[in-house]
Amino acid sequence: MTTTTVQTAEPDTFAERLSAFYAIGRWEAVNDALPWTPAPRSRPCMWRYANLRPFVLEAANFVKGDDAALRVLTHLNPGHREYEAACGHLYSGLQALKSGEAMTCHRHAASAIRFVHEGHGGWTAVNGDRITVSPGDVIVTPSRLWHEHGNDADDGLVIWQDCTNDPLVNTLGANFFELHPDKTHLPSTPANDTFATWGGLLLPDTRRSRQTSPLHTYPWDKCQEALDAAARAGHHSPYDGVILEYTNPATGGPVTPTTGCKLQLLRGGETTRTHRHTGSVIYIAARGQGTTTIDGTDFEWSAGDTFCVPSWAWHAHTNRHPDDDAVLFSTNEFPLLQALGLYTEEAAPEHTT
Ligand code: FE2
Ligand code: FE2
Repeated sequence: MTTTTVQTAEPDTFAERLSAFYAIGRWEAVNDALPWTPAPRSRPCMWRYANLRPFVLEAANFVKGDDAALRVLTHLNPGHREYEAACGHLYSGLQALKSGEAMTCHRHAASAIRFVHEGHGGWTAVNGDRITVSPGDVIVTPSRLWHEHGNDADDGLVIWQDCTNDPLVNTLGANFFELHPDKTHLPSTPANDTFATWGGLLLPDTRRSRQTSPLHTYPWDKCQEALDAAARAGHHSPYDGVILEYTNPATGGPVTPTTGCKLQLLRGGETTRTHRHTGSVIYIAARGQGTTTIDGTDFEWSAGDTFCVPSWAWHAHTNRHPDDDAVLFSTNEFPLLQALGLYTEEAAPEHTT
């Protein structure tokens, strides 16, 4: 393959003199900016829940919820520790809520998708709707809506995972953050009314004017029902097993304009075929145990663990249990890539792993 790196007879001081005017020559190492194929800085990586959970508990003791709008352990990628993204432009981190605690209400331009790991009594409120949360539930907090979180339980922690598009919005110089002057925007009683309105067969006829998803909660039991029904019906991808997408009921599209999320079931003993695509993916093992092979490296996961597949990395999943299903939740950059016309995918030749 022809290189685009050019050996030049550049005068010794050329680059230095030019840099004084905030400019640089673009003839050496052109592939840094224009790689032959996608060359993401993010590397395949795994964050084990068992390793990070003790730190989540420790932080919950020295960062007081009343004082902070955020108390999250951020997943860093070994390819760019200084850039707070778990993979690509996807943020991921673990958040704990202690019993009786409520975090300060706030809003921001970035949007969030949350996966609940453990605990009962947790709640989140989005745009006035106070939603109770349980393990496996997925919560969507669209851009710019007031939101706050808490835990009503008498004892015990609630831990969930925040998956946001902060890195993207910050890179675009478009983030805003605001604390609510009253620390809360809510009455005190649970409501869950957006699920009652938007989670069923009949939808309000006002949906066409909606810019962001009006549905903010996707309860685990309903999602698992749908996944099991899809499995029984034989809806199966050779690359992903049985896979369903969480959707905005007003549009049928992804839950946020930039970031999508999916739930997939791998049958006992199943190994998917290898493929790759543009767009990063962060996986959270929701149930079971398995191995995901990413660019030739095996990452063994069990429930609670997080791992990432960078853009254009070959990957395949295996459910290590011979009989029991395994379930993966994931967030991805596909809506953004598709909107930009940059999404592409490729199946591996049979011999590629
Ligand atoms: Fe937030
Ligand atoms: Fe994939």
